Amino acid sequence: MRMESALLEALKLQLDWGADETLLDLPAGLPQAAPRRDRAAAPAPEAPAPHPAAPKPAARIEPPRPVPAAGMEAAALAAAAQDLPALRAAMAGFTGSPLKDTATQLVFADGVPGSAVMFVGEAPGADEDRLGRPFVGVSGQLLDRMLASIGLNRAENFYISNILPWRPPGNRTPTDAEMQMFLPFIRRHIELAGPKYLVLLGGTAAKALVGGKEGITRMRGKWHDVRLSNDKVIPALATLHPAYLLRTPSAKKDAWNDCVMLRRRMNEA
Ligand code: URA
Repeated sequence: MRMESALLEALKLQLDWGADETLLDLPAGLPQAAPRRDRAAAPAPEAPAPHPAAPKPAARIEPPRPVPAAGMEAAALAAAAQDLPALRAAMAGFTGSPLKDTATQLVFADGVPGSAVMFVGEAPGADEDRLGRPFVGVSGQLLDRMLASIGLNRAENFYISNILPWRPPGNRTPTDAEMQMFLPFIRRHIELAGPKYLVLLGGTAAKALVGGKEGITRMRGKWHDVRLSNDKVIPALATLHPAYLLRTPSAKKDAWNDCVMLRRRMNEA
């Protein structure tokens, strides 16, 4: 096979496997290529050739960090943070998730901390990863328009974040292990931001913070209890994710009903 067609075959294989965009110049998680040697530099001493019958040395693969250890690290960092800037710094320094290696930057939150309502989504997408703020892509723009119609805007009266602070490669859905790992951070985030109400945008946020076996279509349009680490319970309205609404415009009426429910509850207080 000629070099060119071999490369095309390799590219096609990656597309078949679902890799649909380039994240880094080099593959993440693979051993680093040996540093390039200056042609003029002295050659490295040659290693003795292995005996032909000798068993091949096993490739050195770093063992993945066990999730419980990373989860404990996340819980300790989150508990130690006494305000939002400290929490942000703790999350930026957290090394327990490989998502940090493929994401461009941490996406912490947007809007006004201390607002009566805090929205929680799933994870940053490509636009959020580039700009460092949650819900700034097309689904965020739809969300902003919906919320504006009930008198909410992020410059004045709501706060917004995600379960995961780093973008999963290719926008894949977060795994259960990832959700569990980041739970201490988002729980502490909610405690420190101090909203009266939560709105859980989509199945990932609802599953992570409420738990249970029901999917978002059954959970939406209802208030659920979210228990924080300080044992405080916050009422949380589950609703459909705006990205789902973009794909399924017929569901917008349900989302609108949820917005009205939220407004009514806020007005009652
Ligand atoms: N979807 C999310 O769940 N969060 C974002 O920040 C953007 C899109």
